[in-house]
Amino acid sequence: MKLFGLLVFIGVYCCYADDYYTTDSPPAYYDRRCGEDLGNLWLDVVVVVDNSKGMTNGGLINIAASIASVFSNGTRIGTDPYEPRTTRLGLVTYNAVANTVANLDTYQSLDDVYDGIFSALSQVSNSDESYLVHGLAQAEDILEDGKSNKNRTHYQRVVIVYASTYKGTGSLDPIPVADRLKTAGVTIVTVAYDQDGDGALLADLQLIATPPYNFSNTDQAGNEIGEIQGALLQVNCFCPNGWTQYRASFTDIHSYRYGVCIQPENLKAVWRAAQSSCRVRWNNAYLATEFDGTKHDFILSAIRNQTGFIQPFSYHIGLNLVNGVWVWDQPVGWARPQLQNWYGWLPGYPIQSSTLTVILNSQPSTEVKTGWINIASLNTAANYVCETASCDTDNYCASVTSDTAVQKH
Ligand SMILES: *[C@@H]1O[C@H](CO)[C@@H](O)[C@H](O)[C@H]1NC(C)=O
Ligand SMILES: *[C@@H]1O[C@H](CO)[C@@H](O)[C@H](O)[C@H]1NC(C)=O
Ligand SMILES: *[C@@H]1O[C@H](CO)[C@@H](O)[C@H](O)[C@H]1NC(C)=O
Ligand SMILES: *[C@@H]1O[C@H](CO)[C@@H](O)[C@H](O)[C@H]1NC(C)=O
Repeated sequence: MKLFGLLVFIGVYCCYADDYYTTDSPPAYYDRRCGEDLGNLWLDVVVVVDNSKGMTNGGLINIAASIASVFSNGTRIGTDPYEPRTTRLGLVTYNAVANTVANLDTYQSLDDVYDGIFSALSQVSNSDESYLVHGLAQAEDILEDGKSNKNRTHYQRVVIVYASTYKGTGSLDPIPVADRLKTAGVTIVTVAYDQDGDGALLADLQLIATPPYNFSNTDQAGNEIGEIQGALLQVNCFCPNGWTQYRASFTDIHSYRYGVCIQPENLKAVWRAAQSSCRVRWNNAYLATEFDGTKHDFILSAIRNQTGFIQPFSYHIGLNLVNGVWVWDQPVGWARPQLQNWYGWLPGYPIQSSTLTVILNSQPSTEVKTGWINIASLNTAANYVCETASCDTDNYCASVTSDTAVQKH
């Protein structure tokens, strides 16, 4: 009991008596999540709706309600010279042919969206034919035209497809157009209105969608609107050019994204110079954190996949000793989280010393993995890894190229 009391006392003393915390509660000890503020969504979106007879009037009205609901949590529709965090929304219907209901500049408010969508989707067309290829090609044209607004070239682009059937082979096959869009960086979300319920539509749309954004209106969860909103928030969460987004799996580029970007640097610098170099290459950048083993392994995978890094690997990250306590680097003026429950130390480390104050990830000659060793801050030049927040709904990026980086919070 006595020992426990003493430890608690030391713990409290260490955290509040020193300067590690600028607020009363310690900073979060997990990697930043993507912004989830639908009110600040900033995207260019084209919705592509099948209005062939097979959809039925009832199905079409449900789709109108679904689209309107997706953007009803405060998302600003249109453009605004004083507020960059807006979403442009175009609408295409298709059957035997495609028709542009709205290009990206038609709707300038949520009211415009309601008026436009419910009147355009009040009744199915006379056509039994449904060629998704035409709808996708029309969306591609609208997105291309949308590039004429030079203010928005760094906005992520999304196509949302609502389909009841799927037809087309040869020149009417939609897959080549879908692939072209995806290659150009457009994300495709699909929502199956499976009227026959035989599952064939689901399997077909899976080939069109950007994984894992193939949804169905009959999903068990019954949460199609939330699923689409979640997809839009993930797409709106991305990294500036030259940065790699931290995600659930390094090899699966479609896995869950965190609101964190890393940049391994294959030039060499001593720890303090590496820290300064990170700080100037992007607003609020710092030396990388490794709060857990998953992040450590992700950074190592990124390094392995990058040219210019030679084994045995050795690279600086943000852990450093301040007044006898190991803390993680952060942007200037931010609270620095104290090292907690995951320790990447190599055997024999850390060496107790007041001069060996910074961490190097080092690869022992017999090992595949790297681990931490503590070294002197001005002695060892090594590669290093920078980190910064992603661009997302909580963090608007006015640019995605570092020379003109200006960020607004
Ligand atoms: C969006 O708005 C609906 C209806 O007001 C609400 O039920 C839902 O929780 C909101 N979703 C988010 C993510 O805020
Ligand atoms: C681009 O942004 C500038 C500055 O905010 C604004 O004056 C201009 O109207 C915008 N252009 C377009 C096409 O929206
Ligand atoms: C989406 O695709 C995955 C495979 O990538 C599949 O397991 C899942 O069932 C599909 N979901 C729907 C609704 O079709
Ligand atoms: C690995 O690097 C190559 C070449 O830069 C790149 O094309 C590829 O996407 C990277 N792999 C992953 C999983 O990021």
